[in-house]
Amino acid sequence: MRLPEAVERRLAHLAAEADAQTLLGGAKALSARYRASEKRGDGQSLLGGQEEVLSYALSRLPACYAAVCRALTIAGEGMELRQIGSVLDLGAGPGTASLAALSLCGPKEVTLIERDAKMASLAVSLLHEAAPALQPNLLLGEMGELPLPESDLILAAYCLLELDGQKADEMVEKMARSAKKLLLIVEPGTPEGHARLMRWKKIALRCGGSLLAPCPRGAEPCPLENDWCAFAARVERSALHRRLKGGSLPYEDEKFGFIAIAKGAFERPVARIRRHPLKQKGFVELALCRAGLTESLRVPKSAGEAYRAARKAEQGDAWE
Ligand SMILES: C[S@@+](CC[C@H](N)C(=O)[O-])C[C@H]1O[C@@H](n2cnc3c(N)ncnc32)[C@H](O)[C@@H]1O
Repeated sequence: MRLPEAVERRLAHLAAEADAQTLLGGAKALSARYRASEKRGDGQSLLGGQEEVLSYALSRLPACYAAVCRALTIAGEGMELRQIGSVLDLGAGPGTASLAALSLCGPKEVTLIERDAKMASLAVSLLHEAAPALQPNLLLGEMGELPLPESDLILAAYCLLELDGQKADEMVEKMARSAKKLLLIVEPGTPEGHARLMRWKKIALRCGGSLLAPCPRGAEPCPLENDWCAFAARVERSALHRRLKGGSLPYEDEKFGFIAIAKGAFERPVARIRRHPLKQKGFVELALCRAGLTESLRVPKSAGEAYRAARKAEQGDAWE
């Protein structure tokens, strides 16, 4: 998974104009704060200062974009994403989730809610690169204080953990009421992120709609105990990204969790693969969540077509 080429070009251009040491320091500070906040989820801003806006876009945007794309793709297995005409992106940051929606749904209307003016202006410029004909609506301010325009798809990616618990719960309720076709919330793939998502699943379902993904059991409580559900999106790293993240691998795996709540008709799979499939010589071991239980399924080579499907399968895929 890579960002759209025009967006990558724009980011590389902005990075070339910025001070390299400031970017590097910003990326390191952000990464430390990100890791700490995943544990806390206590409503504190992840941005340390305005100079970190570009560091965020360069170091986190590619991975968060890949996570939202993967979550939308999984949701899209159960409903037609191209029927989405309008998108509302809360805590939009540099426009990450909207960029993913543009790639996969092709909406005509995009509205961003963001409290940081510099982030918002970067989002508008990146969206312009990705879709020059689109004129995004920008609502600059606190999401809790703004009326939410009804939209086909409402997205909240990696932002509700910057609200304190009670405010985040209220936002989920508002979003669930304002989403006309789909509500998608993406969080870090941590035990804390999973716990928040399971709480928000209950809140959102009380406001209408049904759980489309990831749980094949829909509204029923999560069967996991002392464990959590997370998916992974692999993102290619550019040379600049590698320098900022201090890694040598040409890719990184972003772990994330999500809930997708749909209004209207959709299909839910019998089971979902919840861990990276273990592909061994002669068999594949799948960790499945299926209605009523979680289980491990060994698919031997003798299973023929099922074996071939298991070898191609990825974490997060449906398993019939
Ligand atoms: C970690 S960034 C995530 C940005 C983007 N959604 C992504 O996935 O990359 C969180 C963003 O939410 C914004 N944000 C946090 N709390 C907010 C609030 N109460 N109202 C509006 N924006 C908020 C922050 O300014 C920041 O840009």
